[in-house]
Amino acid sequence: QTARKVSELMKRMTLEEKIGQCVLFASRGMVTGPRSSEKMDDYIKSGACGNVFGIKTAAETRRIQQMAVENTRLKIPVLFGMDVIHGYKTIFPVNIGVSASWDMAAIERMARISALEASAAGIAWTYSPMCDISRDPRWGRVSEGSGEDPYLGEHIATAMVRGYQGGDLADPTTIMACVKHFAAYGAPQAGRDYHTVDMSERTFREVYLPPYRAALDAGAATVMTSFNDYDAVPATGSRYLMTDLLRRELGFNGFVVTDYTAINEMVNHGVAEDLKDAARLAVKAGVNMDMVGNGYLKYMKELVAEGRISAREIDELCAQVLAMKFRLGLFDDPYRYCGRSESAWYTPEALAASRSLAANSMVLLQNRNSVLPIREGQKIALIGPFADNVREMLGSWVVAADTKVGTTFSKGLKERFGDKNVRVVAGDVMTDFQDARRAAEQADVAVLTLGLSQTWSGEAASLTSISLPETQKLLLRRVRESGTPVVLVLVTARPLELCEESAAADAVLVAWQPGTMAGEALADVLSGDVNPSGKLTMTFPRDVGQIPIFYNPKNTGRPVGALTSQSSEKYTSRYLFTPNEPLYPFGYGLSYTTFEYSGLKVENPRAKIGENVTVSVTLRNSGDRDGSEVAQLYIRDLAGSVTRPVRELKGFEKVFLKAGESRRLTFVLTPRELSFWRADMTFGQEAGDYRVWAGGDSDAELSGTFTVTK
Ligand code: IFM
Repeated sequence: QTARKVSELMKRMTLEEKIGQCVLFASRGMVTGPRSSEKMDDYIKSGACGNVFGIKTAAETRRIQQMAVENTRLKIPVLFGMDVIHGYKTIFPVNIGVSASWDMAAIERMARISALEASAAGIAWTYSPMCDISRDPRWGRVSEGSGEDPYLGEHIATAMVRGYQGGDLADPTTIMACVKHFAAYGAPQAGRDYHTVDMSERTFREVYLPPYRAALDAGAATVMTSFNDYDAVPATGSRYLMTDLLRRELGFNGFVVTDYTAINEMVNHGVAEDLKDAARLAVKAGVNMDMVGNGYLKYMKELVAEGRISAREIDELCAQVLAMKFRLGLFDDPYRYCGRSESAWYTPEALAASRSLAANSMVLLQNRNSVLPIREGQKIALIGPFADNVREMLGSWVVAADTKVGTTFSKGLKERFGDKNVRVVAGDVMTDFQDARRAAEQADVAVLTLGLSQTWSGEAASLTSISLPETQKLLLRRVRESGTPVVLVLVTARPLELCEESAAADAVLVAWQPGTMAGEALADVLSGDVNPSGKLTMTFPRDVGQIPIFYNPKNTGRPVGALTSQSSEKYTSRYLFTPNEPLYPFGYGLSYTTFEYSGLKVENPRAKIGENVTVSVTLRNSGDRDGSEVAQLYIRDLAGSVTRPVRELKGFEKVFLKAGESRRLTFVLTPRELSFWRADMTFGQEAGDYRVWAGGDSDAELSGTFTVTK
């Protein structure tokens, strides 16, 4: 039916009007590239621009919509997009933090709340989820992703799409998701944003593709091209990526938008002579919509006239955009998203969900002498540049939220522990270390908040060092000298190099960029009202020189320990002065209680190809507090037709257990989980032996074996 409506409408459209549907302008505040959208109103009134993003107020979306439907010949409504990344008004932890919760229901809820809030302001389309796997914390955009693992990435991508889009895009409280950045944007060389991506097709398909695919399988309506090249062709001009893979192989039938001026950038990439040529390449690749670049706006018509692209190609691109506008119900009521009601923002439910996700995302890396939780009546010195700063709590990629709404660590701790018990020494530049040291000396516990500013993460925020700034390291040393136990609370959106800090501090808690409810969430965890349960989704290296470092590399022919004599050990795959192991591995995180795994059993240890393998294990809360644990299942294919990773995550479950309680957990490895891209580049299973591990992180020791037979 939608197809019929689209074709009826298109019969009445001129070429210019069709091109207008392929044009996306940015609001004035949204400049993240070399050009901006000028004279937007004129283009909208003439029908030359059919889509806009980054409009922050409902009144403005309404004004623009009115301009479109009252001035254009066919009254085609404008589609409004927005970077709703980890919340719209109510801000949740930054995405890498959210991923550390391993809680798919909570992540879906975050996306649902984001959709409720954004759609109330006229937004029907978010540029999320970012499904880019990354193994390089130098890259600033690891903040926006779900970490290094494809299996976890698939689950999070699915949860996000479900949350945004709900069951029906026609429901005006849902919004379209946009799977980005297609493809392999998370693997720029040396972690430098926008840099070249060069990898084997095998690595692409095994590691980078799965989360995009999962988001598409969940029904994501749109896709964004990436800035990078893939196999020497910029993604935005890659017919292989945008048509052969995306549409033909993966069955996508929504529309594709470029990233910001990505068409124009094909000239710099060196594959297009000029903007006109770049626009041609993008059309040929199958890209529906040009974000900000004006290549389509300026040259599509000429390209048709010159016979370099066909009118039919434009018809196809336009039709896919219009189909989504029909599905959203914009033709029934162009104002259905425009300012429904501001009462949808910052609701008590949204704030509670943000608080709970923030607390459950925090990762406890260390807790010597059980310095945490802080006990009632203890005197706290809250020190450091992140102690009292709302903007830093909200984190990167916050477009529409009021940057003054939110609680700070200072507020949260004072409320929970009592004003008189919390002394705050905060400041952007900690010049007076003596004050900090004195406050620590007079306290029972020093809570030191260090980290990286939110401006140091996100797009165009690559770093060559992932250490804390030198002034912060100095501050830690001074506070340490007080002799008071130190709890280090890290505000960050990427893994950090923490060797010195973990040796100096008694407890280390990664709080990420926690969002609107930062203060309450930190108080929940430090007080023990919430038992920490977050687990890392990216490896924390010892040394920046270990990057790229991830839990699932290949074994190599000379793994450490493989050669027997000490002298020959030198000739194994290792560094001279640094161990191969990270400081904190993928999947790692402590709790105030302890968990024990036992009794791993493979129910059918000789499964045939095509059959499930069922693994069960007993998880016991062996400590004296209730708590949640993320139980993880890893496998290794011991000998395949191609080299296989030393471990692969293939199952997880977040389980709440009362103190002393045990539960038998069951993981089902389906043929899909046991399949991989074989030597001949077909996807499927092979017969052979496997090892399987269950435990609380990627170093889990409890293991068993099974064999897949022909
Ligand atoms: O959605 C973003 C994208 O992730 C990076 N470049 C800009 C786009 C629009 O803001």
